[in-house]
Amino acid sequence: MENNLSKQINFLRQRSNKQLALHMRQLAAPKLLKEAIDYSILGSGKRVRPILIYLVVRALGAEIKHADKPAAAIELIHNYSLIHDDLPAMDDDDMRRGKLSCHKKFNEPIAILAGDAIQALAFEVLAEANELSLSTRISLIRELASAIGASGMIGGQLLDLSYEKKKIQLAQLEYMHSLKTGALITASARMGGLVAGADAATLSLLTNFGSALGLIFQIQDDILDCTGNEDQLGKPKGSDEKKGKATYVTILGLQEADRRLQEQCARASDLAADLGPDGRILQELTYFIATRKH
Ligand code: IPE
Ligand code: IPE
Ligand code: MG
Ligand code: MG
Ligand code: MG
Repeated sequence: MENNLSKQINFLRQRSNKQLALHMRQLAAPKLLKEAIDYSILGSGKRVRPILIYLVVRALGAEIKHADKPAAAIELIHNYSLIHDDLPAMDDDDMRRGKLSCHKKFNEPIAILAGDAIQALAFEVLAEANELSLSTRISLIRELASAIGASGMIGGQLLDLSYEKKKIQLAQLEYMHSLKTGALITASARMGGLVAGADAATLSLLTNFGSALGLIFQIQDDILDCTGNEDQLGKPKGSDEKKGKATYVTILGLQEADRRLQEQCARASDLAADLGPDGRILQELTYFIATRKH
């Protein structure tokens, strides 16, 4: 079964890579901007968010080709967020995915502009998803926009910065995580539901599943920053502690962070099971994300 999931993950990652390459080929932009965008998008990202939307669409019995554009849009947003996250004004990280971060390879203004352009491209891709009905497209655009704005990912990034070198409560940490990472992962699950024409009850289940998965993803990101292998991670280790970031590990310690991770895994697994027999693949994905090494 696990083998089956690995095969599906590889297949869907390749599909996502092909779609992104297609959008990059179609993008016309001044040379340096295009180079910076290509450099950031066509890398070795795990493509977890596209894989999630594809698997949800499949679990709900719809055709995955209908998820191609939404999956690309989500990954574009994620890539823009990473470029800006690495900037000196934010986390000031020099490496990303085993190579220089965008502002190090190019320069800061180019990295800022590349991020801006990638964000706009994501919405253009969604708006032009002709294989989906107009109302589905509008729902997807609305879902993504609200997930990444002030009350979603960007709000979470602000909290992350404002909590640096501060002692905060667990509830604040969890809320920050649910926004900065959880919102986009929850949106990926829900956008899968929207593509497949899911009813309100299923969408609500996907919201809860996505929020558990988002927490799992960020707790493991925090753990890996402390225990991971730098070559595998492709980004600096110990970066959180160095900057006084509030993370599961810096606030609670490794053991308690792991306990919380297991707790959320059980929650996500129960929710995926509620989706019926086809939810099984989402249970496996949960385990895969919780045990990832990079
Ligand atoms: C890293 O995300 C940033 C977080 C939101 C924790 P990923 O671990 O999905 O990064 P890539 O896309 O695989 O490089
Ligand atoms: C990144 O979180 C979250 C977003 C980009 C929205 P982190 O700052 O923890 O991600 P890494 O550790 O740099 O990949
Ligand atoms: Mg950050
Ligand atoms: Mg960072
Ligand atoms: Mg991190």
